[in-house]
Amino acid sequence: MTPIQETIINKKTTNTPIWLMRQAGRYLPEFREIRKLNPNFIDLCLNENLSSEITLQPLKRFELDAAIIFSDILMLPYGLNQKVEFKKDFGPQLGSLDLDELSKIDEIDFIKKLHPIYKSIKKVSKDNLIKNKNLIGFVGAPWTLLVYMINKHSPKKKLVNDFFKDKFLINRILIIIEKFLKLHIDQQIKNGATLIQIFDSWAGLLEEKDLPNYVYVPTLNLVNYVKSLKIPVICFPRGVKNYKSYCKIVRPDVVNIDYNINPFSICKEIDIPIQGGLDPKILLTDTTNLKNQTLKYLDIFKDHPYIFNLGHGVLPETNPDMVEYLVKMVKDY
Ligand code: CP3
Repeated sequence: MTPIQETIINKKTTNTPIWLMRQAGRYLPEFREIRKLNPNFIDLCLNENLSSEITLQPLKRFELDAAIIFSDILMLPYGLNQKVEFKKDFGPQLGSLDLDELSKIDEIDFIKKLHPIYKSIKKVSKDNLIKNKNLIGFVGAPWTLLVYMINKHSPKKKLVNDFFKDKFLINRILIIIEKFLKLHIDQQIKNGATLIQIFDSWAGLLEEKDLPNYVYVPTLNLVNYVKSLKIPVICFPRGVKNYKSYCKIVRPDVVNIDYNINPFSICKEIDIPIQGGLDPKILLTDTTNLKNQTLKYLDIFKDHPYIFNLGHGVLPETNPDMVEYLVKMVKDY
């Protein structure tokens, strides 16, 4: 069993495993070098040689317990023929959405379009660097994908005013998203992903009363689907106020907490394995501060199944030496 499986399945609390969201990315000079020569981010995600190489870059440097496949949650709308572009200093920009076109998408065509991602997963799964480690496949949660597909760009703090105007459209799109997410998860697992993480980055935009409809029910359907394939599933409902209710209803194998969550209270409130929490901005400070903050999480969770990670992705301005320091500290604890 891998260290992460020991934590999730056997509820082991010693030798805390570690991996980091966005561990493959712009803070690594070797990634920036490849990125410079590949200005189109989607093309890069669809280049199985480069995306598998990028996936493995952090494992060559640090003693991490998992690789996360280099891709993006927005490859799903791309697979559904919605235009997706990544603009420098702006982020993602999506094109118009036509429900009739969306309803006609064929499953085989969708899998063909995303095929390089699955080939990349297969490549990584065969590499020696992943031995006794997990290979994490991932998807965006239906709600977060709906936000991007309708809003067309990152909502930052709020949704466009008329977001909920056409409930019929929203519910139809959610059903289509769910269907293709299941296909995408299935293909990632068939090609070697041994763990799935569901990113719900915009769950925090919703009022409590809307969570069941847009977050709990669609995510529960996916969680049950992953469980039926006998693969553990991690959920990251960023920004939800009540992680306890979320876990009770959605029942993931692991929940990733964001950095606004008090680790001390959540450790007492939640009985499933927990992942993450450390504010990625701490990696921008100094080693003394990083040490204190890391020890805080390790001490609080020393008797709780815990996977070390951050409360959001590694920031591009992070010094790789700080990541090295963090990984060493967790390994030596
Ligand atoms: O290392 C990893 O974690 C795997 C790769 C990964 C990426 N995106 C690569 C990426 C993962 C797991 C994601 C998930 C993702 N993508 C999320 C959920 C997590 C979160 O951040 O909340 C979301 C919301 C997206 C959508 C997205 N992709 C945005 C908003 C942006 C632009 C902002 C940014 O961080 O640059 C991206 C682009 C993106 N995805 C980059 C990378 C490495 C940067 C691309 C570049 O080099 O310019």
